[in-house]
Amino acid sequence: MKIKEVGIIGSGQMGNGIAHVSALAGYKVVLIDIAETALTKALETIEKNLKRQVQREKISQEEMDKALGNISTNIDSKALKNADLIIEAATENFDLKVKIFKDILEHIKKDCLLSTNTSSLSITKLAAVTDRPDKFIGLHFMNPVPVMKLVEIIPGIATSDEMLETTKQFALSLGKTIATAEDFPAFIANRILLPMINEAVYALYEGVGDIKSIDTSMKLGMGHPMGPLELADFVGLDTCLAILNVLYEGFGNPKYSPCPLLVKYVEAGWYGVKSGKGFYDYSGDKPVPTR
Ligand code: CAA
Repeated sequence: MKIKEVGIIGSGQMGNGIAHVSALAGYKVVLIDIAETALTKALETIEKNLKRQVQREKISQEEMDKALGNISTNIDSKALKNADLIIEAATENFDLKVKIFKDILEHIKKDCLLSTNTSSLSITKLAAVTDRPDKFIGLHFMNPVPVMKLVEIIPGIATSDEMLETTKQFALSLGKTIATAEDFPAFIANRILLPMINEAVYALYEGVGDIKSIDTSMKLGMGHPMGPLELADFVGLDTCLAILNVLYEGFGNPKYSPCPLLVKYVEAGWYGVKSGKGFYDYSGDKPVPTR
């Protein structure tokens, strides 16, 4: 299974990061979204992040130019017709992902490999809505994709060994390190991360500490690069809630029950960095705690 062209569906923070690292590794990339404005924004982000890597002498100007030249964008999923591997990186919503996979099946090559960047949903269940569950896998990148070394690889129950091996080689070719997880709710990384974030929100909700104290405790006390509330804002509070719901419903265990305060923030549309407000307010020069 030779991969030359990668189709990426969804140009948000994960999709544009995956496009960035794939193009830099020499793959042709077709980046798809529903709106031109989203694609323009994604290309601006990719260019900004590549420039940052040039400035820090991580890559050369030539490599940057080549990477940008490898990326094309389109609002029509028919542009995926030559893709050898498709990575779906849309919002963390099962029905939306099902619709996307069903819609693309008639346009793509018979032997095109399918993957999803879902952070929690069942790979097996998503694979089952396609015509090729043996060629379907979870390929879970971490944010920010150009910086974080890990890619979690999650075979579904029907994924073939050949597909697993091809996907592993693809992730390694991007310069990533892989961890293979079984297909259970939220896999490995988020199974461990999200309960920590939820506990931090409970600590805030119960008044054990304020936002600054909770984040400082974990940053300076545990050596985490970001505090759990800062990280929740970075991941997106809507995404955090979606993952916790998958854990809660998947295991039926109350220990995963999302904190009501997290639910309230999401109800308010306070999704974190991407909406300008979450546990912190991002409208000024520096993020300021909202409580
Ligand atoms: N693209 C390219 N390079 C980037 C970048 C981007 N988007 N963002 C940061 N960088 C680079 C910077 O240029 C800098 O490079 P050097 O080391 O060469 O100087 C380096 O990354 C560090 O960046 P900064 O100095 O700007 O800032 P920082 O030191 O505060 O680090 C951070 C920023 C890398 C994001 C760091 O805070 C961090 O590691 N945070 C934790 C991130 C994390 O946990 N991610 C996982 C989230 S969970 C997830 O993604 C899974 C899920 O499904 C929810």
